[in-house]
Amino acid sequence: MLRCPLQLVRLRLPVRQLSDLTTKFTGLGSFSNLNYDQLQSSLRTDSSQCEQFWKLIGEQQLNWMQPFHTVSDCDLKSAKIAWYLGGKLNASANCIDRHLATRADQTALIWEQDEPGNQVYITYKQLHAEVCRIASLLLQSGLQAGDTAVLYMPTGPPVVYCMLACARIGVAHSVVFAGFSAEALAARIQDVGAKVVITTDQAIRGGKTVELKRTVDAAVKSCPMVERVFVSTRTGASVPMGSIDVPLEKNAAACSADCAAEPMDSEQPLFVLYTSGSTGKPKGLVHSTAGYLVYTSLTHQHVFDYRPGQDIFGCVADVGWITGHSYVVYGPLANGGTTLLFESTPAYPDVGRYWETAERLGLTHIYLSPTSLRMLLRYSTDFVTKYDLSRLRVLGCVGEPLNHEAWEWYHRWVGGGHRDIADTWWQTETGGVCIAPRPSAEGAPILPAMPMRPFYGLEPVLMDPATGAEVTESPAEGHLCMRRPWPGMARSIWGDHKRFAETYYSQFPGLYFTGDGASRDAQGFLHITGRVDDVINVTGHRLGTAEIEDALDSHPAVSETAVIGYPHKLKGEAVYAFVILKDGVSIDRLGDLRRELKRRVRDRIAAYAVPEKLLFTDGLPKTRSGKIMRRILKRIAAEDYDSIGDISTLADPSVVEALKQHHDLYQ
Ligand code: PRX
Repeated sequence: MLRCPLQLVRLRLPVRQLSDLTTKFTGLGSFSNLNYDQLQSSLRTDSSQCEQFWKLIGEQQLNWMQPFHTVSDCDLKSAKIAWYLGGKLNASANCIDRHLATRADQTALIWEQDEPGNQVYITYKQLHAEVCRIASLLLQSGLQAGDTAVLYMPTGPPVVYCMLACARIGVAHSVVFAGFSAEALAARIQDVGAKVVITTDQAIRGGKTVELKRTVDAAVKSCPMVERVFVSTRTGASVPMGSIDVPLEKNAAACSADCAAEPMDSEQPLFVLYTSGSTGKPKGLVHSTAGYLVYTSLTHQHVFDYRPGQDIFGCVADVGWITGHSYVVYGPLANGGTTLLFESTPAYPDVGRYWETAERLGLTHIYLSPTSLRMLLRYSTDFVTKYDLSRLRVLGCVGEPLNHEAWEWYHRWVGGGHRDIADTWWQTETGGVCIAPRPSAEGAPILPAMPMRPFYGLEPVLMDPATGAEVTESPAEGHLCMRRPWPGMARSIWGDHKRFAETYYSQFPGLYFTGDGASRDAQGFLHITGRVDDVINVTGHRLGTAEIEDALDSHPAVSETAVIGYPHKLKGEAVYAFVILKDGVSIDRLGDLRRELKRRVRDRIAAYAVPEKLLFTDGLPKTRSGKIMRRILKRIAAEDYDSIGDISTLADPSVVEALKQHHDLYQ
């Protein structure tokens, strides 16, 4: 394989693009014609400049039904975050209606179906009609502004219609990734208090069908608050329809294609999206209407250098994750762009699928996960080089640290050695990209395998977890926090603001704590080292170790468990479960138990949460006060025995030796 040198790779942008970078803010008062470095330094040194910047950006990015009177009212010490107060707007109108005068016949969505070659193009005019019909239907069903609806649907036009239909009438949507189990879905429906669930008969992915309606049926049995289940048709298979079930498309077709967009307050929740935390209960992060839309549209434009009317944005994420919300739906549509809805997998029908799709649809951008790159680079590069990728301009990636090998492969084989790689760092909580190589000043270098630079107005800081003080020197490492608020950040955890404040704003008062560790090099560029809490990142999906422990502990044969993440070549991290069984459980049953426990995790959470390794043990490394030393388990799982360190403070140090031996046996 051809390897790029790991030192600085200088990527010079074409002249046209350079001039764009320095003039993007034309018409933005004193910020016009500033380049990245100048703008950042002006925003960092002067809060009033920051306020002025976000004011002008807010006015420029969105159509307001009533102008805002206050740019921001934030106090991170008390987890108070509010932007664009006094303003009224509608997210659906900003993503559709305002483009109709100039872009009615432009493609808004390209649905790349599971079987290659079956793409469907939807214009802004069609999008408007479909969204209005569904919004009318939802209103008829009794939903009103302030309610919530859960969407359990595959990536495709209907889920986008439903998201925007909810936004149109002021209903907060909560999209639940369609790979979650019935139990996980039920927990989210109950937590968000949804009266309405919208689902699909079946999903199709990688040639396989997935029974979504049946999963919803199982979930709603324990959700008495659900009054109506709308069922969209994907395969047309016959699925059981009960008294609360209503076919979506058939009923929407009879509704008006004209439905007024409701003026909503800036801070009205646009959606709730669940993600894993360090306790067993997933958190429903709440995102606002105005700040979120301002931030996703701005980052979509500047991080990816997106040009509406010319570019086709190919974010292959599932709509059920934040990446899908921000860069499949809201960012691209708020910008009047053309966005891809990718229903398939990177390996179906073969590992050239992304590149075949990119050629056939003429994608100018592709935005994917490091996990998929790590999988694809194991195959012949012919799967890439046989396609014409000359239209691709920007290659993005998100979700986990992008290792050097994957970066180089992406850059060399997909990027022809010269296209920009945007390794973007962000989170469900941040709403949009916070750290990425672009935008940046003229000729600025892009270094392999690090997101590098904060977005406009953001101020990452590294904190020392031991002292709680800021680490100011460089190079250095620390816990990654953000000093300044930005419009796209989450506002709360649904129904639990206290947990929100404790999770993100208590460890380092006055700062947003990301839960990630980071290092800063001598030039000030940032590299993310991974989670520093009990959250693990499996194939780019977040999982709380406590969530998996709860599922395992619920088995009657289990006494205690400890779950950790360990480095995995393909998945980034994989799940390792240490399990202590109850006294008297027959050793002959271990094979069955292993299967039952894995099944339990699949049923309670999702397939991707199932432990890759599961070790039955008699003891766990605990302190004398009974706290499990996960650090030690992590070292054992990674076979990094030399750095296990001092074990003399453990209640029973001999446990460590036993675990090492069992782990070896297990390999
Ligand atoms: O650990 C970081 C990792 O993914 C976490 C956020 O996960 P989630 O909320 O599911 O959102 C993923 C998509 C935005 C972060 O705390 N992460 C995300 N991007 C990167 C990353 N780690 C390293 N490099 C990245 N570019």
